[in-house]
Amino acid sequence: MFEPASWEERYSSEEKIWSGRPNPQLVAEVSALTPGTALDVGCGEGGDVIWLAQQGWQVTGADFSANGLDRAARHAEEAGVADRTDWWQVDARTFAAGGRSFDLVTTHFLHPPDGGMVEVARRLAGAVAPGGHLLVVGHAPSEVFTQLTATHRRAMFVAEDLLPGLPEGFTPLVVEQRPRSMVREGTPVDIHDSVLLARRTDQAAAPHRLGR
Ligand SMILES: C[S@@+](CC[C@H](N)C(=O)[O-])C[C@H]1O[C@@H](n2cnc3c(N)ncnc32)[C@H](O)[C@@H]1O
Repeated sequence: MFEPASWEERYSSEEKIWSGRPNPQLVAEVSALTPGTALDVGCGEGGDVIWLAQQGWQVTGADFSANGLDRAARHAEEAGVADRTDWWQVDARTFAAGGRSFDLVTTHFLHPPDGGMVEVARRLAGAVAPGGHLLVVGHAPSEVFTQLTATHRRAMFVAEDLLPGLPEGFTPLVVEQRPRSMVREGTPVDIHDSVLLARRTDQAAAPHRLGR
């Protein structure tokens, strides 16, 4: 699950893996923001990209799986938002914005191993435009995930873990674990989403000065 090959295989099957509905923390945090440009890293089948596009954002969906991106592009086409979306094959662990910047950079349920999410958060922050937001959401460690290996469970994080990844000039707005119910193999389980929302406050809308 940490390398592209296993995700390529998952996304090559006929079966749809995710619900297609937007993630609840995305809806909770972004609904009040003014739409602009957005980047969703680890976008999978594109549910969040499509929701953002429907809210008026111009969205780049990014993932390391080419099959995932193909699927997401198909779903965006079916949802009638293809003109508000584009796609970028990237590995979040080595991501570099390459001069691009976005008003919102978001990622949901991307869990690189060995505490790697701190470095991913730092890299994604590098793509946030002045005044823009970074939203990182993942699974908080929980006994509920008994089916996973110890390595996978160690890849989960709480929001506070990511704070060292925030560059100077970012102000954390939300750093918390939020309870959520999900259904796993037909049984409802209670879990927590780790939510880090930060705003890039350096150089944000500096007042324009006339003369000296
Ligand atoms: C659990 S799925 C979540 C998909 C989507 N964000 C959602 O919430 O429905 C994780 C996604 O992240 C992608 N992914 C995992 N590791 C990645 C990495 N290092 N770089 C880019 N994408 C990655 C996978 O291909 C997969 O689509």
